[in-house]
Amino acid sequence: MEDRVISANLMMEEDTLEFSLRPRFLSEYIGQSQVKENLKIYIEAAKLRNEALDHVLLYGPPGLGKTTLSNIIANELGVHIRTTSGPAIERPGDLAAILTNLQDGDVLFIDEIHRLQRTVEEVLYPAMEDFVLDIIIGKGPSARSVRLDLPKFTLIGATTRAGLISSPLRDRFGVVSRLEYYTVDELSYIISRTADILQVGIVGDGASEMGRRSRGTPRIANRLLKRVRDFAQVRGDGIITPDIAKEALKLLQVDDLGLDAIDHKMLRSIISHFRGGPVGLDTIAATIGEESQTIEDVYEPYLLQIGFLQRTPRGRMVTAAAYHHLGLTPPEDTL
Ligand SMILES: Nc1ncnc2c1ncn2[C@@H]1O[C@H](COP(=O)(O)OP(=O)(O)O)[C@@H](O)[C@H]1O
Ligand SMILES: [Mg+2]
Repeated sequence: MEDRVISANLMMEEDTLEFSLRPRFLSEYIGQSQVKENLKIYIEAAKLRNEALDHVLLYGPPGLGKTTLSNIIANELGVHIRTTSGPAIERPGDLAAILTNLQDGDVLFIDEIHRLQRTVEEVLYPAMEDFVLDIIIGKGPSARSVRLDLPKFTLIGATTRAGLISSPLRDRFGVVSRLEYYTVDELSYIISRTADILQVGIVGDGASEMGRRSRGTPRIANRLLKRVRDFAQVRGDGIITPDIAKEALKLLQVDDLGLDAIDHKMLRSIISHFRGGPVGLDTIAATIGEESQTIEDVYEPYLLQIGFLQRTPRGRMVTAAAYHHLGLTPPEDTL
């Protein structure tokens, strides 16, 4: 019981921390310059015309800043944001209730929008296109449809799986932006910014040591910083030096490229059990005891990005670069 109270408190603290680390303006949002430039213009134009911003779809792997950017958009527009998610909207009526409670210009943020039920999605189409809600009153032969006007809102949808969004839904977004993995420099900058907020000292190349291992992902960068900070406090004087960072990351089993124990296990098992592939995702999942979904969403994208895995019609293949990274010799015919 005691433990539980403590862990709940800690979690709340962690939440507040995430919150305090979130940039609030476009100018504080690091990287993604193309996406930012476009949004800046659209936001400016919407404000000039005093209209709601076009609906925006943000997609990309987890932790790249979709939720953060959605909040920034609302903040820059000076409107309220109502946040929900695909799985949270169970029935069409739930969505109708949310829509009718919006005010003109508001942002409705639907996270994991690829997980919306089909029946709910159908309510969304006329709402997005014409800002109307069609509701059926009564039952049987006496049933009739009534059209309600909705406030002019902006829908921001976020998803890690753009491919799973139906085309009628995707077509209704005026702005579709893909978030890219961040460069090491950008991640190092994010780490320095977070360190400032947390009042942690970093000297020398400490930030880039962590940036290099953050898999292109700000959420991971911030998490690594928090772990390394703990290590620096216990083992050193609280200041993060490059050596402290390296030592801490080694203890966390994060390698030079940010690959962790599961990445290693996955690559090694494809190599040892399937001669480097090709092998299907489900088979890999069963072999290493992870969910296919987790591998596809969390592990695989980065390995594809750095060219350690290749997707072929017959399955995943480990590349020569991955063999070399693991200190192994690739077979002759490896890509
Ligand atoms: N461009 C950015 N600049 C600075 N920090 C960022 C940026 N993008 C994301 N972050 C940080 O990373 C964390 C995760 O971002 P989040 O928006 O929750 O990602 P997503 O919704 O894509 O999973 C946030 O708490 C935020 O502090
Ligand atoms: Mg999010």
